[in-house]
Amino acid sequence: MSGAAAHARLTGVTRVYAGPTHVHALGPLDLDVARGEFLAVVGPSGCGKSTLLDVLAGLAAPSSGEAWFEDRRIAGTVPDGIGVVFQEDASFPWLTVADNVAFGLRRAGLDGAEIRRRVEDALGFMGLGEFARAYPAQLSGGMRQRVCIARTLVLAPRFILLDEPFGALDQQTRLLMGDELLRLWRRTGATVLLITHALDEAAMLADRVGVMSARPGRFIAFVPTGWPRDRDSRVVSAPEFGALTAQLWSHLRPESLRAMGQARA
Ligand SMILES: Nc1ncnc2c1ncn2[C@@H]1O[C@H](COP(=O)(O)OP(=O)(O)O)[C@@H](O)[C@H]1O
Ligand SMILES: [Mg+2]
Repeated sequence: MSGAAAHARLTGVTRVYAGPTHVHALGPLDLDVARGEFLAVVGPSGCGKSTLLDVLAGLAAPSSGEAWFEDRRIAGTVPDGIGVVFQEDASFPWLTVADNVAFGLRRAGLDGAEIRRRVEDALGFMGLGEFARAYPAQLSGGMRQRVCIARTLVLAPRFILLDEPFGALDQQTRLLMGDELLRLWRRTGATVLLITHALDEAAMLADRVGVMSARPGRFIAFVPTGWPRDRDSRVVSAPEFGALTAQLWSHLRPESLRAMGQARA
């Protein structure tokens, strides 16, 4: 990769959806994600957050600019080493929990013993060991989302991208799932990029929070949180927490108002 050792890098990236509506969804923006960093991204609804994730995941090509992961251009397919977790209920309802988690490993052609070993480990880590033979419909929303995280975890990604993964969960479950994600981050040493609409979630989990403007989304601020690596959801009661979310909101509020105006126009 050109320049310093970012784990992933966007330079001058834009994304325009062609067609009759012609939506300029994103950028131009630059982004460096450091190796091992936990970066959260917040921004108004419709500002291009999912588009940003799609570009990093190789699911959408930038209209201009470049996207890099490790020493390769991201283009066309999900790069080896990147794992993506989408919104709730991306689990396959026709497969058991174990088969959901084994899905990607089978596609990758791993041998049976290795698949069993990795699936067992991921299920254990996510507290799903007893539910290996259950179907997603038999689980709560939080557990289904754990299945999706386990499915990504077994692939041993070096860069984990999550797009509002806890959006559909209740507040307590969201906090606890945040703890799971921190545990996963610490154990794997992976780089994490979490897109969320919840300022408290961003403030609690991340090393650094990127705030995006209204569409076309650009980064208007990067706010370091200053938490220690072995943090958990109890930081929400730390005295600094309120100031941190207030700072995020002061950046985000004018952009959210602008986005509302765009939606009305
Ligand atoms: N496939 C598409 N075709 C046309 N416009 C799209 C498409 N996907 C997203 N958009 C538009 O691009 C903008 C950004 O979308 P998105 O990245 O989903 O925003 P966010 O995730 O921040 O809510 C929105 O205005 C949305 O309507
Ligand atoms: Mg989105």
